[in-house]
Amino acid sequence: MPSLSFDLTGRSILVTGGTSGIGLAIAQALLDAGAKVVVGSRSKEKVDQAAEALAADRPEGVVVAQQLDVAEPDSYAAAQARAVHEFGRLDVLVNCAGVNLKKPTLDITAEEHQRVFDINYFGPFYACQAFARHVIERGGIESGGGSIINVCSVTSFFGLSEVTTYAASKSALLGLTRQLAVEWPRLYGIRTNAIAPGFVPADQNREILKSGDRGRRILENTPMQRFGTPEEIAAAAVYLAAAAGRFVNGECINIDGGFMINGVSEAEPKDEV
Ligand SMILES: NC(=O)c1ccc[n+]([C@@H]2O[C@H](COP(=O)([O-])OP(=O)(O)OC[C@H]3O[C@@H](n4cnc5c(N)ncnc54)[C@H](OP(=O)(O)O)[C@@H]3O)[C@@H](O)[C@H]2O)c1
Repeated sequence: MPSLSFDLTGRSILVTGGTSGIGLAIAQALLDAGAKVVVGSRSKEKVDQAAEALAADRPEGVVVAQQLDVAEPDSYAAAQARAVHEFGRLDVLVNCAGVNLKKPTLDITAEEHQRVFDINYFGPFYACQAFARHVIERGGIESGGGSIINVCSVTSFFGLSEVTTYAASKSALLGLTRQLAVEWPRLYGIRTNAIAPGFVPADQNREILKSGDRGRRILENTPMQRFGTPEEIAAAAVYLAAAAGRFVNGECINIDGGFMINGVSEAEPKDEV
């Protein structure tokens, strides 16, 4: 038996939030593996910059960048329609767009709570529905099915202080991942998986990591004793999208330098025992 391939040549992939941080690195890794990629986010400036950076030294037409707000289902639908128009079909959806909110829980307003959920949970939910409808329209299982990759978080699994809305939205996204993974493979041939990045300094969390001694404590609890990089998260998206990952379904790959499995590691004790 030949080994299964990580090659994505001929595959068409849409990455929401693909214009900075982890999403940009995912888009880059997918392109490097041979895919054709649509990236989108709200800021025109970021979309233009990402398009330029991703397209450099590549054949014309493999990168498409489009303004997109996942909180607006019609906006996502337009981006998906563009992907189908440009590439003929869509094979993989990566829901990476996300925002954070750090606040004491009692101070969170209804608007803030709704806004974070609109982007981190409802956006991906409606995007998954739209993606599945496209897969059905082009022939479902017979046409190769599809793959969905949701970018969750370590907060999908446990609590961190003062990011209640964010953690709840990412927990809901992991729940959605598992639900679709149970329902959609036999109906439409769609696998659904997640990636849970650990702590990767990016636009949405740089200030949070710096606040108080949070960053130091995270590093103390990370066996590898450093933050991650976007590229270290992105490689998992290639695996989940490719033939190499074709039996992976309903899984969440934690990439966190060991943060989640850390029990007690050797560190300089601060108190007398
Ligand atoms: N960095 C970490 O440590 C970490 C850890 C766990 C999980 N994550 C998750 O990883 C994903 C990527 O975040 P990141 O850390 O790489 O942060 P980032 O650099 O701030 O990237 C967030 C991306 O999402 C886009 N975005 C935000 N709201 C959007 C919307 N409504 N519609 C479309 N695009 C939108 C942003 O672009 P625009 O501003 O132009 O819209 C940007 O491209 C997020 O889902 C985040 O929750 C990150």
